[in-house]
Amino acid sequence: MELLTYKTPDEAAAKAFDIIKEGIENGNIHTLGLATGGTPLPFYKIFRDSQVDVSNVSTVNLDEYVGLKDEDENSYHYYMNKELFSHLNFKQSFLPNGMADVLEAECLHYESILQKHPVDVQILGIGSNGHIGFNEPGTPFDSLTHVVELTESTREANKRFFDNEEDVPTHAISMGIQSILAAKKIILLAFGDNKADAVKHMLEGKVDESCPASILQKHPNVVVLADTKAASMLKEGIVRDK
Ligand code: GLP
Repeated sequence: MELLTYKTPDEAAAKAFDIIKEGIENGNIHTLGLATGGTPLPFYKIFRDSQVDVSNVSTVNLDEYVGLKDEDENSYHYYMNKELFSHLNFKQSFLPNGMADVLEAECLHYESILQKHPVDVQILGIGSNGHIGFNEPGTPFDSLTHVVELTESTREANKRFFDNEEDVPTHAISMGIQSILAAKKIILLAFGDNKADAVKHMLEGKVDESCPASILQKHPNVVVLADTKAASMLKEGIVRDK
C-alpha cells in the first residue's frame, strides 16, 4: 500500500482528483466506484467544479441505507445527486436500492451490476472502527453485496446528519469486502484524529476481520491519502510524500 500524507483534507482531495481526472481523460476509467460520508466532500467539490467530461464514465456506489426514499435528504441517493451527479454528465449511476421489497434479491441484482461494470478506481473512506462501505468489524473478507445491521458506533457516528438519533436507519445494503476488493485500483481517504487508530491498524496491523480495512494490505493497488491527523499514530519510516 502506498501512503501519502497531506497537511489538509483539501490537498489530499486534490491529489485524489488528479488521479481520477487523468484516468478519465486517458480513457482508463470506465467505471468509478464512489463513497459517501463526510470524507469525500472536498473531493466532490473539486470534481464538480472541474466540469470534466464524464459522459463515458459510469459510477457505482458502495452502499445505501435501508428504508430511506431516494428523495430523503439523508439517503445516499440524495447525497450523491446533490454533491456530484446533478453537476456532471455521467453516463449512468448505480446505488443499491434500500427501498426494495426483497432486500436479498436487490443484493444479488447489485452484484450483477458490479459484474457488468467492473470498477476501475474505487474511492473509499474508513470508519473509526475500520469499516469500509458499511462492512463492520467481523464481516467475512469473502462477503458480496449484503444487508448489514449497523453497529451502535456507526449509528452514533452518522447521527450528526440526522435530526433525531431515532431516525438513523438500523440497516443498510453494502457492497461486500470481496466486491470492493475487485476494483483495479483503490484510493482511500482518511481525515481527522478519530481515524488515526483505524489507519494504523489498516496499514501496520494484522490482517484480520476485526479491522475490515486491513484486508487492503493484500490488494495490489491501493493508495491511502491521509491528512496528518489521521496519519499521526503511524510509525516513522513509512514512505510519505508531502
Ligand atoms: C459511513 C459510510 C462509509 C464511510 C464511513 C466514514 O458509515 N458508509 O462509506 O467511509 O462511514 O464516514 P465519514 O467519512 O463521515 O467519517
